[in-house]
Amino acid sequence: MRFTKVEPAYTSKHGCRLVWKGTEEDDSDTVILTKDELDSLVEILKRDKAGKITLEDQVSAILVNSDVTQFTLQGHRPLEADTLEIQKKILEYAKIPHEPQYIHINPKEFYPSVWIRKDEKKEDRDLEKHEDKQTLLQAILSSQPEIEDQSLSESDVFRIFATRRSTRKFAKSKIEEWKVDKILAAADTAPTAGNFQGLKIFYVKNNKTKEALVEAANKQPYVNAPLVLVFCMDPARVNLKFPQNILEKFSMQDATLAAAYAQIAASGLGLSSIWIGMIDEEKVKSILGTKLRPSSILCIGYPDKKKPPKSRRKLKELIEVIE
Ligand SMILES: Cc1cc2nc3c(=O)[nH]c(=O)nc-3n(C[C@H](O)[C@H](O)[C@H](O)COP(=O)(O)O)c2cc1C
Repeated sequence: MRFTKVEPAYTSKHGCRLVWKGTEEDDSDTVILTKDELDSLVEILKRDKAGKITLEDQVSAILVNSDVTQFTLQGHRPLEADTLEIQKKILEYAKIPHEPQYIHINPKEFYPSVWIRKDEKKEDRDLEKHEDKQTLLQAILSSQPEIEDQSLSESDVFRIFATRRSTRKFAKSKIEEWKVDKILAAADTAPTAGNFQGLKIFYVKNNKTKEALVEAANKQPYVNAPLVLVFCMDPARVNLKFPQNILEKFSMQDATLAAAYAQIAASGLGLSSIWIGMIDEEKVKSILGTKLRPSSILCIGYPDKKKPPKSRRKLKELIEVIE
């Protein structure tokens, strides 16, 4: 892995992406630094001294030595860069105001921000408990609610699933830009057919456009939310030799999955959302100035009031086992 470049990260006006390339064409690795992390790195490199920066997750770190700069990232292979090279590139980068840009991220890349911290003790306990090798499905079908589950950490992905609730009334507070970045990065990690990413996300900042989208969404007023993302299908990107209707189905699934990942990420960040499927596709296309078919609008914000999750039918009714 060779450190190759520094570039802007997602939509934040500050912070950066450090990119490494391997020998194979699609072999690459990335570290995203927040504004504070980048500032600390610039400070150390400016002084030409050794130093250590602890990253946002409080576990990952960057160790600047005189010869090599080491990136020890939680759950990730260690990365290194020649200190002189990273010094040159980072200081050069820090001088210029950078426009945010949308970027392609492949699944091997690293986002300290979207990691879910594991509750290892809980996992160990679960392993012991299920040593009789029950399948997951058997466990679901025979399970009773466990009081123990309440001790799961805030960031536990199952807790996020279990506590998510749609919101149609948002507080006026703005969403921090770093949270928007994390939501977009999470959408980008969703699987797509053939990894062709047959979708496009419109991040609507313009208030007039948001109001127009309210109109295009059957006058649902909450579409004018603090953060509005429109997920569109882009079947032309799906470079597979299948009939057009299959490519369209794939791109619909790509766009839907990305929206779902964004929705879960928003919940994990203490935000809430409403998924809007009731849209006039032609109106949305014309508002956004695109030919791409919209699949959904995800409206995100801080909830005006936190509500408990809605109930569902019993899992036993949802799942039909075919033996
Ligand atoms: C495909 C789809 C389309 C939806 N369309 C709308 C919509 O147009 N307007 C709306 O208010 N809610 C819409 N929703 C939100 C659902 O009403 C909501 O997710 C559902 O009531 C379950 O509530 P929960 O998300 O809090 O669990 C949609 C959800 C999905 C998955």
